[in-house]
Amino acid sequence: MSVKDVYSGTFLNQPIKKLIHFLVAPLILILSSLSLLAQEQGTGYSAVEVNRGAYLFGRYCTLCHGADGLGEGVLTIKIDNYPSTNLIAGNQRFNSHKELVDVITYGGVDKSLQVSESMPPYQEEISESDIGYLATFVRYLREDTEPATEVLKGNIALLPLRRDAGKELFKIHCVLCHGKGALGDGRMAKLLKLKKAATPANLTVSMLPKPEILRIIALGGEAVGRSPYMPPWSQQFSERQLMAVIDYVQSLRVKTK
Ligand code: HEC
Ligand code: HEC
Repeated sequence: MSVKDVYSGTFLNQPIKKLIHFLVAPLILILSSLSLLAQEQGTGYSAVEVNRGAYLFGRYCTLCHGADGLGEGVLTIKIDNYPSTNLIAGNQRFNSHKELVDVITYGGVDKSLQVSESMPPYQEEISESDIGYLATFVRYLREDTEPATEVLKGNIALLPLRRDAGKELFKIHCVLCHGKGALGDGRMAKLLKLKKAATPANLTVSMLPKPEILRIIALGGEAVGRSPYMPPWSQQFSERQLMAVIDYVQSLRVKTK
C-alpha cells in the first residue's frame, strides 16, 4: 500500500468508505454549524456559553454592574463613594479567565484579591461551571461590547416572562438585601449594618398599605423620606413587573389571626 493509496483511500473497500461517510458527514455538519454560531458571536466565543453567562449576569449582576456592564446599576448610583462597578471602561484589575473566576467566586471576602467588600462572593449561590460562563461573558463583554450587550438585553427581557414573575423578580433584585425569606437579613444587610445604615425591612411583618409599598418600591427610600439604601425601581421595572413584585411582597406577610 503506497502513501498515495492512503490519501485517495483506495486501500479501503467500499463498505468501509460508506461507513466513514455515514459517520463523518453529520459530524462535519455539526462542527460547521457550531463554528457558524461562534462566528455569530464575533470573537469565537461559544454561543451557548455566552448566552448562559448573559442570562446569569442579567440575573445576579445588573443590580450593581448595570444592564450594559457600565456600572449604571440601580444600587451604585444611589450610594456615595461607591467603588466603580464599570466592568468595561476604567482600570480593570481582573482580566484572565482565572482571575475573573476568582473575583466572582470569592468577591471582597478574599482579602488577598483586594477587592471592595461590596463585591459579593458567589461561591455558595452559583455553581462552578456557571461562574465559568459568567467569566466568559465578562471577557466577551469587554472584547466585543456591542453584541454582548445585545445578548444581555435579550436575556434580561426574557427574565420577567417566567412564571411567578413577582417571585422571580424578588429573587433577582431584592434577596441581596431583604434575604431569601424576606426577613431583612440578606447578605447586603450585614454591610449596611457595618455602615450603621438602616437595615432592610423585614417584609413578612411590614404593615405598609399597598399605595405606600408602591411608592417606596417605585421611587426608592430617599424619595419617601426613608433610607437611600432602598433603591428606586421605576426605571428598571415595567408597570406590570412593579405590580407583580408588589403582589409578591404582600403575599410574604405572615398571616395574623
Ligand atoms: C452588590 C453589588 C455587586 C454585585 C451584585 C456584583 N458586583 Fe461585581 N463588583 C462590585 C464592586 C463594588 C466592584 C469593584 C470592587 C473594587 O473595585 O474594589 C466589583 C468588581 C467586580 C469585578 C472586577 C472588575 C475588575 O476587573 O476590576 C468583576 C469581574 C465583577 N465585579 C463581576 C461581577 C459579576 C459577574 C457579578 C454577578 C455574578 C457581580 N460582579 C455582582 C459590586 C457588585
Ligand atoms: C440595597 C439594598 C436593598 C435592595 C436591593 C432592596 N431593598 Fe427594599 N429596603 C432596603 C432598606 C434599607 C429598607 C428600609 C428603609 C428604611 O427603613 O428607611 C427597605 C425597605 C423596603 C420596603 C418597605 C417596607 C416597610 O414596611 O417599611 C419595601 C416594601 C421594600 N424594601 C421592598 C423591596 C423590593 C420589592 C425590592 C426589590 C425589587 C427591594 N426592596 C430591594 C434595602 C433594599
